[in-house]
Amino acid sequence: VIRVPVALGERSYEVLVGPGARHRLLEVLPPGVSRAAVVTQKAVDVAVDPGVEWKQFLIGEGERAKCLATVEELCRGFARWGLTRADVVVAVGGGVVTDVAGFAAAAYHRGVPVVHVATTLLAQVDAAIGGKTGVNIPEGKNLVGAFWQPAAVLCDTEVLESLPPREYQSGLGELAKYSFLGAEGLADLPLAERVARCVEIKAAVVTADEREGGGRALLNYGHTLAHALEAFGLTNGWDLRHGEAVGIGLIFAALLARRLGRIDDERVTDHRRVVECYGLPADLPPDADVERLIDLMARDKKATTGFTFVLDGARGVEVVRDVQRSDVRETLLEMGQGASSPR
Ligand SMILES: NC(=O)c1ccc[n+]([C@@H]2O[C@H](COP(=O)([O-])OP(=O)(O)OC[C@H]3O[C@@H](n4cnc5c(N)ncnc54)[C@H](O)[C@@H]3O)[C@@H](O)[C@H]2O)c1
Repeated sequence: VIRVPVALGERSYEVLVGPGARHRLLEVLPPGVSRAAVVTQKAVDVAVDPGVEWKQFLIGEGERAKCLATVEELCRGFARWGLTRADVVVAVGGGVVTDVAGFAAAAYHRGVPVVHVATTLLAQVDAAIGGKTGVNIPEGKNLVGAFWQPAAVLCDTEVLESLPPREYQSGLGELAKYSFLGAEGLADLPLAERVARCVEIKAAVVTADEREGGGRALLNYGHTLAHALEAFGLTNGWDLRHGEAVGIGLIFAALLARRLGRIDDERVTDHRRVVECYGLPADLPPDADVERLIDLMARDKKATTGFTFVLDGARGVEVVRDVQRSDVRETLLEMGQGASSPR
């Protein structure tokens, strides 16, 4: 396995990446732990052996299960079983499981250690690393949460084989993003090295900005339009996965950067090549409503004043403020529109 350190002082930990990494669980449990609460979903079906007394806690599927009711149910289950602060929560699953279990671990007894066993490509390169945990409320996604760093993260590339193809595809959107955050040549690496390279970049960004004061915003490259497309798609019956929306968002970000004179045609072509090589969509769906998308982007919680985007440029990807609405509109109109909508 490849070991990637996440350097955060006394909250530092390691991410173990590679085939069979899930079998290293006992090795990474905090010292002296006597019991492990294993939080997972039925569909995940990845067996782990904590090597200490353990009990499984199942949660539901999808964004709807990522809610406060699930956190309460988990905490009540932990309490009935008698979990203490000297024990550990082990999250086995994708981003939904690591976000919910991580938040339950942060809140239960005001904090018990958590170890993430990430089982989707998206969780391995993104969600399980960095300590952001949380749940949705009806008013919005990820609005309630906590920073709670795991004690370790295991990214077993073997378990990705059972992942439904579209879930894999969704993770590829994040891989495509990392290609522009310093991971050139990513597509040529074997899978475990590819995941490890992305983890290294995420770890470096988190180390520099643990609580999202600034630099961590770079991880949102391609995400401003992606979030708007996901929100628009929800009310229009699209079946658009997060990673697919990120593919479209990356192309938009490249075209906007070119319009603002930040990058040249060749760099736009680089973006198209990466997005296409991962088989991700690059065009807006045909029934996308440009004005609605602009309004949704203005509301994105990452946009503090006016239009703020993360854009490529001579110094690499950086936060760019005060982008004009007209430039955003022209860029959306300049984008290709796909032959059919994702349904
Ligand atoms: N905390 C963060 O920093 C962060 C970052 C990015 C995304 N996220 C969150 O992550 C979530 C998305 O995560 P996701 O894409 O992993 O989705 P997910 O957790 O819903 O997993 C996708 C599906 O795959 C199934 N699955 C998981 N592992 C499997 C396996 N090995 N074999 C077969 N099926 C498996 C799951 O049961 C689920 O049905 C979102 O809620 C998002 O907000 C969090």
